[in-house]
Amino acid sequence: MEERARWRRRADFIFAAVGAAIGLGNVWRFPYIAFKYGGGAFLIPYFVALLTAGIPLLILEFGLGRMMQAGAPAAFAKVRKNFEWIGWLSLFAVMLIFFYYTVIMAWCWNYVVFSAGFAPKLEVAQETGHLKYVWSSVNIREWAARSEQFFKHDFLRLTSGPGHLGHILWYVVIGLAISWLWSFFYVRHGPVSIGKEIYFTVIIPWIILVILVIRGLTLPGAIKGLNYYLTPNFAALKNPETWLAAYGQIFFTLSLAMGTQIVYSSYLERRTDVNNNAIVTALANCGTSFFAGFAVFSVLGFAAQALGVSVPEVTKGGLHLAFITYPRIISMLPAAAVIGVLFFILLVTLAIDSQISQVEPFMCGFMDKWRIDRKKILPIVVVCGFLVGLIFATRGGYYWVDIIDHVTCDFGLTLVGILEAIAIGWFFGAPRWAGLTGIGVIVLIIIMSFVLMKLKGREE
Ligand code: PHE
Repeated sequence: MEERARWRRRADFIFAAVGAAIGLGNVWRFPYIAFKYGGGAFLIPYFVALLTAGIPLLILEFGLGRMMQAGAPAAFAKVRKNFEWIGWLSLFAVMLIFFYYTVIMAWCWNYVVFSAGFAPKLEVAQETGHLKYVWSSVNIREWAARSEQFFKHDFLRLTSGPGHLGHILWYVVIGLAISWLWSFFYVRHGPVSIGKEIYFTVIIPWIILVILVIRGLTLPGAIKGLNYYLTPNFAALKNPETWLAAYGQIFFTLSLAMGTQIVYSSYLERRTDVNNNAIVTALANCGTSFFAGFAVFSVLGFAAQALGVSVPEVTKGGLHLAFITYPRIISMLPAAAVIGVLFFILLVTLAIDSQISQVEPFMCGFMDKWRIDRKKILPIVVVCGFLVGLIFATRGGYYWVDIIDHVTCDFGLTLVGILEAIAIGWFFGAPRWAGLTGIGVIVLIIIMSFVLMKLKGREE
């Protein structure tokens, strides 16, 4: 049998695991979820979820991968033959994620170009007299001043709803192709041979983040945003949706329940310690999210002060935060183009190692099961990922990004996480009461949220 690949040093493994964890989830998803659930109010369930699910499951996944020396489906199959499907379920979840994750990356590539001053602009065509979009040099201040219009109409040309996809946007396709090609060259020889590049794509975003935090904190009104971010609001804790979102975010951000951490740790020697590695990875990741919160909320505070409104009135959250609110605020600052370019480069460099960490477990599932060679399976995954991604690159794709993100993270990952914990805990004989209490609480949260959403739906 072929010898299993090995990390060359402990640092390589930690950088890969941290790189998988730190991604769009920290700078785009965390602040917007925190914002949606009341800023400071969200931090409490977030840290509870980190301690009760994040760190224990990370240790469990690292331990499982190291012990079984295989990707998720094969690792579960080695625990017990009929657990294999849990592994496949996690690969299904990660597949859904990489389909849309690369499209958000594609938008970021587009926004790097827009920030640098080249964007679509509505003009009257001379021949026909009709309005049409022409690509020309457009200063960031110009388009970002009407950033919502720009994002929805000039850039995404949104259709009326998810049922209506419309045509494919060629410039998003270019971004999508760049993201997939980049990841192809990155994992061609396997993650363990990536070497120095991964240090760059983990460290560069950190440097940019520090610059953005300093910029944010030195703006007038920053404190207003930080107050919103850091003051707990205990009333919001009564909302079960907040708790579910916190658990979903912890799974997403630590790349849990998706086979990623299992496959990375399967390249560790059997004797390596996993507890410390898990704690370092979790703290580095959640520390980054917390830090990124300063960059985002300080800038929101600045906008709130400049516009004379309260912080929650500045943005609607969701995809709005990165692509609408942030550019608009950046355009009010000196050297707007530089900050805009930096911000979107931050996002793509953050995202790349997360993306490869989504492709790796998926491929490894097939490689382990059918002994397929990496060289054969990688191009197939890349081409299929690109082709399915085209659905999200249509005019109605935006709606689907939002829907799939919500469903996979809040329900899919939490569910796979619970199954993992039950399967492994039960099999290796964790005290039943401990497992059951934990599971009970999580199941309760899910049911309560379902009920709540139903009730809300009926009210509207
Ligand atoms: N954790 C990554 C992020 O926060 C996303 C990710 C999901 C990475 C699934 C790997 C697997 O952006």
